[in-house]
Amino acid sequence: MANKYAIANWKMNLGHKENIKLAKEFKNNFNRFSTKEVVVLPDFASLTEIIKIFKNSKIAVGAQDVYWSGYGAYTGEICAEKLREIGCKYVLMGHSERRVYLNESFEQINSKLKKVLSVGKLVPIACVGENHQERKAGKSKNIIVAQIKKVFKGIKLGVNQKLLIAYEPIWAISTFGPGLAIKPDDAEEAHKIIREAVNKIFGEKVSEKQIRIIYGGSVNSKNANSFANIENVDGALVGGASLKAKEFYKLSKIILDK
Ligand code: PGA
Repeated sequence: MANKYAIANWKMNLGHKENIKLAKEFKNNFNRFSTKEVVVLPDFASLTEIIKIFKNSKIAVGAQDVYWSGYGAYTGEICAEKLREIGCKYVLMGHSERRVYLNESFEQINSKLKKVLSVGKLVPIACVGENHQERKAGKSKNIIVAQIKKVFKGIKLGVNQKLLIAYEPIWAISTFGPGLAIKPDDAEEAHKIIREAVNKIFGEKVSEKQIRIIYGGSVNSKNANSFANIENVDGALVGGASLKAKEFYKLSKIILDK
């Protein structure tokens, strides 16, 4: 498993043609990268086209969400089997925008994770993170640990299964705040708390070998340096700054130390 990841979450920001254009720009920028540690998450409607564009490139593609059941009568949903079939390699789950706007719960994230792991060949990216009120009340640590326990309840990782955890304090995400990232010291503390919590759940060996913890929330090419060398910060999940190919390339180089 790679040690660092740079993940572009394009959300629902762009039209199909714009997605295609941006993907082509990404491909040109990243053609000398050697491993698939750069991941792009387009919306469902553009997934198959974008997968075609990145075929034989160094960029992997993932989905922004998944359903917790297999094929069936679940209008509007997409299952892990389908994502795997079309060539997705990663799948995000429990992003804070879904938790805030759609009331997605940690129990649902847990069900999605179980399903994705049982289908196999897809690397889950599970999101956690406290909100502004919880942070202000000094409850961040307890909240993060409680979220981790819910998300990973009853989860076992197979020998070769990889897992990414995205720590995204909700107040630091550009959608919900002024676009100011967490302070590096606070990121270090939060990631240590998460690492200790997953060590307890999965054991230290599995945690070290199969789990990476990435930070998300207003990362850009100007502040990437302050997160690049923090222990347990294994990369970045990037929203706004991933919508410009050059900017994302710049910050990825810093994060991935290329
Ligand atoms: P942001 O988004 O980089 O625009 O803050 C991050 C995310 O929501 O994943």
